[in-house]
Amino acid sequence: MRKPLLIGNWKMNGSLQANEALVMRLLPRLRAFRDSLELGVCPPLPYLFQVRDLLGSTGVALGAQNASAFVSGAHTGEVSVAMLQELGCRYVLVGHSERRTLYGETNQDVAAKFRAAMSVGLTPVLCVGESLEEREADQTSNVVAKQIQAVINEVGLSSLTKGVVAYEPVWAIGTGRTATPEQVSIVHQDIRSFVGCDASEASQDISEDLRIIYGGSVKPKNAIDLFSLSDVDGGLIGGASLHSKGFGAIAGAL
Ligand code: G3H
Repeated sequence: MRKPLLIGNWKMNGSLQANEALVMRLLPRLRAFRDSLELGVCPPLPYLFQVRDLLGSTGVALGAQNASAFVSGAHTGEVSVAMLQELGCRYVLVGHSERRTLYGETNQDVAAKFRAAMSVGLTPVLCVGESLEEREADQTSNVVAKQIQAVINEVGLSSLTKGVVAYEPVWAIGTGRTATPEQVSIVHQDIRSFVGCDASEASQDISEDLRIIYGGSVKPKNAIDLFSLSDVDGGLIGGASLHSKGFGAIAGAL
């Protein structure tokens, strides 16, 4: 049984004042879902302490938007997974498309981050997805399969379920252009088939257990259609997670 997961990715937004106001308004809206859903928010790194304290023991978990694959040392500007774990994070996003496209992260870099996160007991949220050009060239399945295969090569198939896969078509992120339920369903099924493709009993189990969430312009008005798909196990929400009412409504759709 895959427990639905909803994570808000605040991206590079917020301030001490705005975070407090958002969390204080959000928590009452999420209270009703704390048993049925796994919930998390990923604020920018400087606010992790603040948001951890605001979340307290409400059951809404803390996550980070990125981490270094390196353990420690001369990596100016980077933050290690052990630091995130020590700060109380449960999740860390790895390979968000903005990291891949704007900061040049490769599939191999992302796989190393997945391994690092796992090694300290964090749940890596592996973001995968195709660009518009790749979709139009009918390359969606190949692109997503390569992104996942790099992680399997790094940690082994059986460790994939220590994380979560977030399918986020790049062309749907922050654009207001959501993938249709049919498009989402096809890719989520493709991912499940790819993971279970060696037909062994173990890979079938892993495919069945793997949580695959969707992200890309999810709003309260399209959340029900997306989350009612049997292969969609939750959402990674950007813009709409900055509004307590919208995020609460999206939680209600799961
Ligand atoms: O991490 C979240 C995704 O990038 C989706 O962002 O909901 O603003 O499209 P969005």
